[in-house]
Amino acid sequence: MPTLMMETAMPFPHPNPPPEGEGTNDRCANLSFFLADENATIALARRLGARVKPGMVFYLHGDLGAGKTTLVRGVLGALQYAGRVKSPTYTLVEPYHISGLDLRHFDLYRLHDEDEWEAAGFRDEFDGNNIFFIEWPEKAPNLIPKADVEINFEILSQGRNVEILANTETGRQCLEHL
Ligand SMILES: Nc1ncnc2c1ncn2[C@@H]1O[C@H](COP(=O)(O)OP(=O)(O)O)[C@@H](O)[C@H]1O
Ligand SMILES: [Mg+2]
Repeated sequence: MPTLMMETAMPFPHPNPPPEGEGTNDRCANLSFFLADENATIALARRLGARVKPGMVFYLHGDLGAGKTTLVRGVLGALQYAGRVKSPTYTLVEPYHISGLDLRHFDLYRLHDEDEWEAAGFRDEFDGNNIFFIEWPEKAPNLIPKADVEINFEILSQGRNVEILANTETGRQCLEHL
């Protein structure tokens, strides 16, 4: 479909729409995009960054190199962050205070166990104010709060497919008109 090849992120219908009568607002709660290149990922992330609210939790799913950290970079750009965005591969978390918001970028790929989580004091980070972008949330399913929004990256031979799901009303509002 030629419209999918545009450089900016363009929504396309979800391949498996929910059964009729379910979720009247699914257009907002379940979005899919084809992202042709890194700029498209950044552009989508910047739109998302303009909509984040204190306390929100975003899960980022996808293989290594899928674009999860790139997305966080775009979100921070939307919040006027001008510094370098480091991948928290070894530190597990990078904190940001920007535009009056506290954001925590987690990468749990190298999280060993619950003890490491507790010893690092991560539990206290979930204070209802901090905003979370969590890469590899599947490494700590019982430790982190439920996501408001889940973002799934699929690596294609060229570009990425991204599916964005809202799990809560806050998440749904965030995705409205994205
Ligand atoms: N839509 C896209 N199409 C192609 N390459 C992309 C796209 N978005 C990001 N990239 C590239 O893919 C890589 C993603 O790296 P990164 O964001 O660190 O991935 P992850 O955090 O998921 O491991 C980067 O080299 C980035 O330039
Ligand atoms: Mg990463």
